[in-house]
Amino acid sequence: MAKRKTKFVCQECGYESARWMGKCPGCNNWNTLVEEIEASGSAGKHTFNIGSKSAGKPEKITAIESQKEPRITTAMKEFNRVLGGGIVPGSLVLIGGDPGIGKSTLLLQIASQLADKQLNVLYISGEESTRQTKLRADRLGVTSDLLYVLSETNLFDIAKQIEEIKPSFVVVDSIQTIFREEISSAPGSVSQVRESTSELMKLAKSNGIPIFIVGHVTKEGSIAGPRLLEHMVDAVLYFEGERHHSYRILRGVKNRFGSTNEMGIFEMKEEGLREVMNPSEIFLEERSQGAAGSTVVASMEGTRPVLVEIQALISPSSFGNPRRMATGVDNNRVPLLMAVLEKRVGLMLQNQDAYIKVAGGVKLDEPAIDLAIAVSIASSFRDQPTKGEDIFVGEVGLTGEIRRVSRIEQRVQEAAKLGFKRVICPKKNLDGWTAPKGIEVIGVDTVQEALKVGLGQ
Ligand code: TYD
Ligand code: MG
Repeated sequence: MAKRKTKFVCQECGYESARWMGKCPGCNNWNTLVEEIEASGSAGKHTFNIGSKSAGKPEKITAIESQKEPRITTAMKEFNRVLGGGIVPGSLVLIGGDPGIGKSTLLLQIASQLADKQLNVLYISGEESTRQTKLRADRLGVTSDLLYVLSETNLFDIAKQIEEIKPSFVVVDSIQTIFREEISSAPGSVSQVRESTSELMKLAKSNGIPIFIVGHVTKEGSIAGPRLLEHMVDAVLYFEGERHHSYRILRGVKNRFGSTNEMGIFEMKEEGLREVMNPSEIFLEERSQGAAGSTVVASMEGTRPVLVEIQALISPSSFGNPRRMATGVDNNRVPLLMAVLEKRVGLMLQNQDAYIKVAGGVKLDEPAIDLAIAVSIASSFRDQPTKGEDIFVGEVGLTGEIRRVSRIEQRVQEAAKLGFKRVICPKKNLDGWTAPKGIEVIGVDTVQEALKVGLGQ
C-alpha cells in the first residue's frame, strides 16, 4: 500500500511544513498548523498538465488584438462602479465580509437583476436550503424565471451543474462550505478553500462565466485562507458596515479589471439593499450644526468625492495615561496630529483624552483628512465651533505645514454642490484652476493659518 503523505498547513496563512510546529513561521500565530493528507495523484495531475494540447506559445504583443472587455451591467450603478464598470465575463470575484452584513442579500439581488435581463443565473448556496433562499427571495420580491437555485456543497456536483445549465452568472455562497472529495481536510480549511477556488477559477475561465464567491471574514478581519484567496481571484470586494447602522459599503480591494478604492454605498432596508446615489447628503444628514469638535472633510473614495463629518471630543484625562481613540480613521494619525498641534500651535493636549469619530460608520484612509481631524481637535479643545459652511482638506506634515492633496477640483465641486461656502485647502493646490461660482477657496500653508481661518484665532 502506498504510504499516506501528510503535511501540516497553517490555517491562517497557508504555510506548509512537513512536521508539526507550535508556532507558524509564516505568520507567527500559535497553534494554527493542522495536519492534512496531501491530495493523491488524481488531484495533482489535474492541476499540472504541462505539454497538453492547450499549451500556449508566446505571441508578439503588437500582434494581439486589443479588445475592450465586454461587461455585464447590473441595475445597481454602485455595484457596477466598484467592479470598474460591470461584471467581466470569465472573472472570479470574491466578496468578503462579516457574517450577517448582507452578502447573500446583495448577491441574490444582483442575481435576480441579471435574470431579469434574460440571462441564465445560478445561485449556489452551501449554507441555506433552497427553501431558505426562496424565503429571502420572497422578501426581496424576486420573480425572475431564469434564476436557478441549488443547495450543494460538493464541488464536483457544482461543476457538473454549471456545465449543464451553462449559466451567464454564478454565485457560490460561501467558499468555506464547499469541498472537494479528494481532499481529506474539512470544508473551510486552507487546503479545501484553496483547491475549491482554483477549480472555480478554471470553471470561470474555460466557460467564460463570471463567478462570484462569498468569503466569510474571520474574527481577525481576514478572509479564511486569506492571502491565498486574494492572490487567486480577479477581484476582491469587501462588504462592510456597522451592524447597528443600516448603511453598507462595498469596497474594492483588488481588481484586475479596474481601479481599486472604489466604494459603493447601500442601505439595508426591509426589502433588501437599496443603493445610495448621493452619499454626501446621507453622511451629513445628522450633522450637529454649531457644535464644537465637528468639521466636514471632502474625502476621495476612489474616483468619487464624499463629504463626511469628523467629530472630536477632547476632555481632561482623569488617569495618568490619556486615552486616544479613533473610529473610522487610522488610530496612529491621531496622536501624531495632536503632537503637531501641541508643538506647532501650542495647544496643551498631553493631559487630554481624545476621541475621534467619522460619522456614519465610514472608514477614511487618505492623508487629505488630516487637516479636518486637526481642526476638530482644536475646536473641541477650545470649545469653539467651526462655521457650518466650511470644508477642510489637506495633509498635515510634521512641521505643521499643509501639504498638497489630489483632485482638489472635484472635492471643491462636491462641496459647492451641497451648498458649502468655503473650502480651506493647501495653498499649493490653488494654481491652474478656478473654483466654481458661489464657493470661496482659501489656501493655507500651515495648521496655524487654517485654525485662524476656521476658528477665527
Ligand atoms: P445576509 O445577506 O444573510 O448576510 P450574510 O450573507 O453576509 O451573512 O443578511 C442578513 C441580514 O440582513 C439580517 O440581519 C437581516 C437583514 N436583511 C434585511 O434587513 N432586509 C432584507 O431584505 C434581508 C434579505 C435581510
Ligand atoms: Mg449569507
